[in-house]
Amino acid sequence: MTVQRQPSRTMKNQTVLVIADTHCPAMHPDYISFLKKIEKKHKCNRVVHIGDLVDWNSINYHERDPAMPSPMQEFEQAMKQVRKLHKAFPKVDYLKGNHSDLPSRKAKTIGIPEHLMRDFKELWGLNGWTIHPRYHDLIIDGVVFRHGDKCKGGQQAAYKNAIAEFNSLVQGHLHAQAGVVYHANQHDCVFGMQVGCGVNHDHPSMNYGRVYASKPIVGCGVVHSSKLAVFEPMFL
Ligand SMILES: [Fe+2]
Repeated sequence: MTVQRQPSRTMKNQTVLVIADTHCPAMHPDYISFLKKIEKKHKCNRVVHIGDLVDWNSINYHERDPAMPSPMQEFEQAMKQVRKLHKAFPKVDYLKGNHSDLPSRKAKTIGIPEHLMRDFKELWGLNGWTIHPRYHDLIIDGVVFRHGDKCKGGQQAAYKNAIAEFNSLVQGHLHAQAGVVYHANQHDCVFGMQVGCGVNHDHPSMNYGRVYASKPIVGCGVVHSSKLAVFEPMFL
């Protein structure tokens, strides 16, 4: 696990727009325009993508659905959405998630060393983005940003992790969880924020989640400081 304490770029807190899991090619068609609206509303000056930029349904560890596109078809479909997102947000800190890391995970399963794999940033044409490895904790103004596929899970996962680490914390990964919950002791107060997701629930790549009672909550997060965060829902 890599923990990296980063100094603030300025003395003032940065205002961070948090893009939730997009799972391209299953990103919601209105998600980018929604994000731009929220970025402007809160005057954000930094952007973090919380992970799972792309879905990789065609190579995941679930049963194959013969009706779904091939890996090359899916790659081309996903690339169209990735290009649009990259154009809208040319400078982003990206936290690799379990889905976007599927090519490396599959390679590892069959014993192919990581250094033989094509670089993620180069593959998806993400010039200007900083790519952080899977399970990374990015710290901005004392707030932890992580994808969410480590440490405590289940209901209110971000809140439980914020309590366990007594640190304000933001995570994605769990598409049906969204919102900010605070915890305080006699010394200080911290929050845990889940940022929902940015997916189109009706896209065939999301079929794996259709059996669950809880449905995705589309939205994004904004972090003003280690004491103030907001979840913004996208009304469908
Ligand atoms: Fe994930």
